[in-house]
Amino acid sequence: MERIMDENDFIVSKTDLKGNITYCNKIFMDMAEYEEEELLGAPHNIIRHKDMPRAVFKLLWDKIQNKEEVFAYVINETKNKNEYWVFANVTASLDTRGNLIGYYSVRRKPNAKALEIIKPLYAKMIEVEKTKGVGASTKILLDVLEEKGMEYNELIIAIQK
Ligand SMILES: Cc1cc2nc3c(=O)[nH]c(=O)nc-3n(C[C@H](O)[C@H](O)[C@H](O)COP(=O)(O)O)c2cc1C
Repeated sequence: MERIMDENDFIVSKTDLKGNITYCNKIFMDMAEYEEEELLGAPHNIIRHKDMPRAVFKLLWDKIQNKEEVFAYVINETKNKNEYWVFANVTASLDTRGNLIGYYSVRRKPNAKALEIIKPLYAKMIEVEKTKGVGASTKILLDVLEEKGMEYNELIIAIQK
């Protein structure tokens, strides 16, 4: 069953450099239907949903490891096999010397119109990933960006408005 985020809520988590959860807020636990003990130390893919293209996570990791922020629409799976969509902003956490020390993500409710664009796009990407791999799936995304003349983050933010 789909769970819908509240308009005014934000879901927060922090991870170490490997993507293991080091912090999550109460709204995260409520939405994901996990207890804090189950989440702390667990890899963030604990809530991975099969409808998420691998290419989106690759892009996400490429950007944050490069200390760039990234925006993404993500569908997650809860402990009880429910699902929920988020609009996420993921950033690198740096120490005072600029060294990477972890990652941080804040999510809010995605715009319904954005999901109308994202759902068929992800479905196409996943289909292609099954036979042709992540490279071909990334190409689908890049082709959309080229057609629109936009950068990835630019498009993702534009459709949330
Ligand atoms: C700060 C941060 C937050 C993340 N949040 C999520 C998330 O909410 N859902 C998710 O599926 N992956 C999230 N990821 C990505 C996961 O680490 C992982 O790359 C992804 O689930 C794909 O897992 P897989 O490589 O096992 O397929 C996050 C990563 C970071 C660094």
